[in-house]
Amino acid sequence: MSTDRMSGKAVLVTGGASGIGKATATLLAAEGARVMVADLNETAAMPVSEAIRAAGHDACAQRLDVTSENDWAAALVEIRGTWGQLDVCVNCAGIALARPLTELSLADWRRVLAVNLNGTFLGIRHAMQAMKTSGGGSIINIASAAGVKALAGNAAYGASKAAVRFLTRVAALEGAPHRIRVNSISPGAVATPMWEGTPLWPASVAEQSGREAALQTLLRDQNMAEPIDIARAVLFLAGDDAGFITGADLAVDAGFSAG
Ligand code: NAI
Repeated sequence: MSTDRMSGKAVLVTGGASGIGKATATLLAAEGARVMVADLNETAAMPVSEAIRAAGHDACAQRLDVTSENDWAAALVEIRGTWGQLDVCVNCAGIALARPLTELSLADWRRVLAVNLNGTFLGIRHAMQAMKTSGGGSIINIASAAGVKALAGNAAYGASKAAVRFLTRVAALEGAPHRIRVNSISPGAVATPMWEGTPLWPASVAEQSGREAALQTLLRDQNMAEPIDIARAVLFLAGDDAGFITGADLAVDAGFSAG
């Protein structure tokens, strides 16, 4: 049931076309936000914003490659032109890569760092510039439990997410005088298409019954979280309930990183 906790807020969600970003865009819109569903894959972002509008809420789709300075500038021009200001930015776009260090090419390393870390840096910088002029806001960066616990095969991904957690704290210090809160969330494993192409993705189910069945198998057999579990944490950090929280990293991992 909606509680209108985001009423009137203008929100930008990167990676909004799929998985955690899609669930976040949908939940925040249902709570009254006007949401820009931003993604490299505009074709997939459009039906997400259409579904939000069909449910009676306000949304638009935007092609945004988080690694592109020009794309960020254009998205901010669009959002300020349409809704006047940016209140919440969720830096969710990310890519995964599991490979032992000795088999990890420099190109792979750069690709993961470019999207997960550089993309978050650009998102923070552009959002902070916009929020400074409008009296504050909330930025939420999606990090990962893989940036808390070292896991073999996770050099590039884990390093990028550990850096996102640190970057979040620096941004929180710089944002505080401007009433800009900056927090991160570190999810454990979440059943999303990000697992496609990994050994955990149940290929036989995907072949026979499609993506949805494969995701259900991850939920059931691997005990993964659902995207909405992370979206609820984003909603909390985005809204006034978290008004005194900044520089925090919220683990949403069923205890995975606690031990
Ligand atoms: P997903 O693969 O379902 O969605 C990622 C979205 O990001 C896709 O729509 C993709 O098009 C978009 N994207 C990729 N590169 C982009 C770029 N350069 N610019 C803009 N958009 C781009 O993945 P999921 O699982 O929803 O991941 C969301 C975030 O959550 C990522 O940062 C991921 O690292 C993080 N995360 C995911 C976990 C999981 O188990 N699924 C666990 C912990 C963190």
